[in-house]
Amino acid sequence: MIINGPNLNLLGKREPTIYGSQSFEEYLDQLKEKYPDVNISYYQSNVEGELINVIQETGFISDGIILNAGAYTHTSLAIADAIRAIKCPVVEVHISNVFKREEFRHHSFLTSACCGCILGFGLDSYRLALESLIYINQHQNNEC
Ligand code: DQA
Repeated sequence: MIINGPNLNLLGKREPTIYGSQSFEEYLDQLKEKYPDVNISYYQSNVEGELINVIQETGFISDGIILNAGAYTHTSLAIADAIRAIKCPVVEVHISNVFKREEFRHHSFLTSACCGCILGFGLDSYRLALESLIYINQHQNNEC
């Protein structure tokens, strides 16, 4: 399950020098084509509580979550708690290299609750996160 947080519905239009000019829907189609054997679902919301609801709903039935919580990464203890509450592995993703950007983006409430974090590779960060979840599923009994 791929979960995108606030403003990521605007990918392609939003600050293209940072986030690129491709929409997430277009990228997702390409990702699904590359991984025909993986059942990839997608959810996006701009609302913190809705993201938590979906993390809770899918966290017990999915093989893994790829989470880009957008700016909530830097503010949300509630999303961190939701990640700790569920069973499936969660990989944190960022399109940009947040460590090259403003200092307020350097802290994540989520990283310590996740298996790991992939950032700075543009949209390809999602594919790398998917590869890591496939590995965790195949080699680590879905635990991290
Ligand atoms: C982001 C980085 C965050 O700091 C920012 O608030 C976003 C996107 C990224 O994917 O690079 O919305 O998570």
